Amino acid sequence: MEKISRTRIAELLKSDTFVSSVNAKGWVRTKRGNKNVNFIALNDGSCLSSIQIVVDVANFDEEILKKITTGACISVKGDLVESQGQQKCEIHAKEIEVLGEADPNTYPLQKKGHTLEFLREIAHLRPRTNTFGAVLRMRHNMAIAIHDFFHKRGFFYFHSPIITASDCEGAGQMFQVTTMNLYDLKKDENGSINYDNDFFGKQASLTVSGQLEAELAAMSLGAVYTFGPTFRAENSNTPRHLAEFWMVEPEVAFNEIEENMDLAEDFIKHCVKWALDNCMEDLQFLNDMYDKELIERLNFVLKNNFIRLPYTEGVKILEEAVANGKKFEFPIFWGADLASEHERFLVEEHFKCPVILTDYPKEIKSFYMKQNEDGKTVRAMDVLFPKIGEIIGGSQREENLDKLTTRAKEMGVPEKDIWWYLDTRRFGTAPHSGFGLGFERLLLFVTGMSNIRDVIPFPRTPKNAEF
Ligand code: 4AD
Ligand code: MG
Repeated sequence: MEKISRTRIAELLKSDTFVSSVNAKGWVRTKRGNKNVNFIALNDGSCLSSIQIVVDVANFDEEILKKITTGACISVKGDLVESQGQQKCEIHAKEIEVLGEADPNTYPLQKKGHTLEFLREIAHLRPRTNTFGAVLRMRHNMAIAIHDFFHKRGFFYFHSPIITASDCEGAGQMFQVTTMNLYDLKKDENGSINYDNDFFGKQASLTVSGQLEAELAAMSLGAVYTFGPTFRAENSNTPRHLAEFWMVEPEVAFNEIEENMDLAEDFIKHCVKWALDNCMEDLQFLNDMYDKELIERLNFVLKNNFIRLPYTEGVKILEEAVANGKKFEFPIFWGADLASEHERFLVEEHFKCPVILTDYPKEIKSFYMKQNEDGKTVRAMDVLFPKIGEIIGGSQREENLDKLTTRAKEMGVPEKDIWWYLDTRRFGTAPHSGFGLGFERLLLFVTGMSNIRDVIPFPRTPKNAEF
């Protein structure tokens, strides 16, 4: 075979000059044609589009052509020429090598239009579909957009631990980490487990949030963000919850709640703009296939200011809606945690715009949030989005040691577990704020997909940890 280095299909499809000899490698999407000429759609994942390979049947061994079936991996050398078809160019094959065959009787991705449910069962192969190619390229792009946003603003990427002994959110939804022999657990006379001999010498779990450690970092580096996997053993089988999801958590010294809201709004807009600027081919595909208003919605979010509203006002609006005949599954009253249906009513029906809800009742929020003077509410902020509900949760933090310790005690957070966290309030405390964005919720929004299982390569949900 002639020696030419491989070019990615994304580059080939962009080229303006038609170089005579090129080499493309990829997976066959379809092969059609007649006894004289075959057309192969070849995709290598570098972009949504496949490149057309034109094969003059007379020039090739019949045995080789037979092996070129949907799913097979091939290397093609030939001339890149201008195309009469939809694309600018195509390859007229001179040599074809079959790198890996795919038995047509067993390769599961034969026809187009498999359901998303079926594709979840073959999550190891679904990246080969147009849909998951597009979603995964966008997932990458959103990660880059996130780093770009914070880096350019002087934030430092901070790595909080995955294994931890503290429950940041205090919601008791942690996965335990242990090397103890579960078949032979020793309990003391009170029936409690003794962790002294466990790997860490104490009860340890997978983190639900890197916030507490990010706060330590903000109180020294000024502005930081974490971006990593977080884990929640909440048994909620919904299209918006995963047991393992990625979270981005910025934390900024000296920021108060207003600046925290500005940061959250700028941040989401930056990511949305990045998608529109860098992912248009994939976006257009997802728009046409799954959500005809996707691109319009992204542009809308970019152009409009988010509504900012206290929780108390939000509840009034919801109560009025109920009085006017609106039916919700869950009751709404001051003090209730908002359900997704309430959040979506405010965003999609009432304001028709993203909403930042602030100043929630302290009972339904975590111990670390700054307490307002009314004694009832805390300086929390949730960013609520169309189709998603809560996309960001954050707050200004309680910087006063006494207030923080009292609240931790009231909420049953043991002081011995957070002594190091309390030290930030003991030594050089300062106002500071931060928030957490669920990376997969952002992806739901920018891809228009409707189930969170379809925006992460291998979803972890109750009773499901395959692959
Ligand atoms: O509102 P949450 O629980 O806030 C925190 O964890 C804070 N420590 C964040 C902070 O202030 N630094 O979670 C933050 C976001 C939610 O708004 C949601 O987008 C996402 O994380 N999230 C989930 N995403 C997928 N699956 C789940 N089970 C999620 N739980 C939360
Ligand atoms: Mg929340």
